[in-house]
Amino acid sequence: MHPTRAVKVVTVVGARPNFMKAAPIIAAISRHNASLASRNGGHHDLPDIAIQSVLVHTGQHYDEAMSDRFFADLNIPKPDVHLGAGSGTHAVQTAEIMKRFEEVLLSERPDLLIVVGDVNSTVACALVAAKISYDGYGTRPLIAHVESGLRSFDRAMPEEVNRIVTDHLADLLFVTEESGLKNLSSEGIPDHKIHFVGNTMIDSLFTFRVKASASPILDKLGLRTGNSLTTATNGAARYALLTLHRPSNVDQREGFLSILDGLEELAQSHPIIFPVHPRTRKRIAEFGLDRFFYHRGQAENGSSQMPIQADGRICLVDPLGYIDFLCMMDHATLVVTDSGGIQEETTSLGVPCVTVRENTERPVTIEMGTNVLAGTTSDGIRRATRRQLESKATGKTPQAWDGKSAERILEVICRELEKKIPAAVA
Ligand code: UD1
Repeated sequence: MHPTRAVKVVTVVGARPNFMKAAPIIAAISRHNASLASRNGGHHDLPDIAIQSVLVHTGQHYDEAMSDRFFADLNIPKPDVHLGAGSGTHAVQTAEIMKRFEEVLLSERPDLLIVVGDVNSTVACALVAAKISYDGYGTRPLIAHVESGLRSFDRAMPEEVNRIVTDHLADLLFVTEESGLKNLSSEGIPDHKIHFVGNTMIDSLFTFRVKASASPILDKLGLRTGNSLTTATNGAARYALLTLHRPSNVDQREGFLSILDGLEELAQSHPIIFPVHPRTRKRIAEFGLDRFFYHRGQAENGSSQMPIQADGRICLVDPLGYIDFLCMMDHATLVVTDSGGIQEETTSLGVPCVTVRENTERPVTIEMGTNVLAGTTSDGIRRATRRQLESKATGKTPQAWDGKSAERILEVICRELEKKIPAAVA
């Protein structure tokens, strides 16, 4: 039998939306190693390369609510290295991550680096890896980008800049939807680097949806009991779930105000639950917008809270972990968001979504029928929420969003590493 060879893979996570995208890949690597060790079943058609997995957390997000809780919810192992980079301007944050990550790459010398998504940690670490030389001869890791090819065509968005730069540095580009293939090809990226694998964030959703359905969050927020709007099917009240954190939506008072105006009509007919991002919470206080909101805590474990009523204001709650948030999305009548990932998760769940942006880098979510772009004006938001509340569309599932994307990525990675290290030893 061929001796088992060993390679090292560094995976980087940094900010909240990274965790659910990376978790299935880390789990797939660990299953692969276990199946190699026991040599029974699993992926026996894969090269017998053992993968030493090193997880690096940049510390871009550092709060319990924005980071630690997701490790527990998604069963991600504790990071091997924590860079503790923290917050700052884009330049400061990116530079801080780069400085600290260079040292890690030089000491770990991985064969492959995996970066996911489009946050500052993604581009910072890809850039370090693209220019590093382990030996003075330009030896560096292969760079794999998960969630490649998405384009909003809006370069004012920091994430768009991060996506473009990362894609052009990557050796392996893992694409989630068809638009990504078109975008990469029109930017001149050669076909052999591009792999259409589906969406690892949807792998996480498949893995944890059943667990999420048992979350007590609906009771804790008063969304299950005795509400006059209660639906017959699952006992959950009709409610809308809101997330807003994009700088372009919340960093100027006028723009933020017009979004809140646009949501007032919905808040009269449905409780709107808003797990609020730290950036947005700061702006609400700074801009004196408290009159649009009230805060609701969670009832103690095991007890239920007084039912929520719609009174024209938005109900602020602390940021939720992955399992609770998935439960809230799954049971929502409507989701209103400016997030990228939530557009995709609602598509997979078949829940109507209103996206408070002028564009989306995820057009498949609109083509499948669950997502609409509202723009950011009050009128646009009112129109889109009315339309979505009346919508009977159940939505369709995008190609390859089937819970197996991480397995496809692992397969490509193993084959590429096999080419790179033909003579590696056990
Ligand atoms: C980042 C990503 C964005 C992603 C979002 C999800 C970039 C360019 N943006 O934006 O794509 O949708 O994460 O949340 O990478 N803060 C805390 N605690 C934390 C983290 C942040 O209080 O754990 C506060 C800090 O005051 C910080 C601010 O939030 O300055 C913004 O954090 P930052 O990581 O710079 O950007 P996000 O807006 O979170």
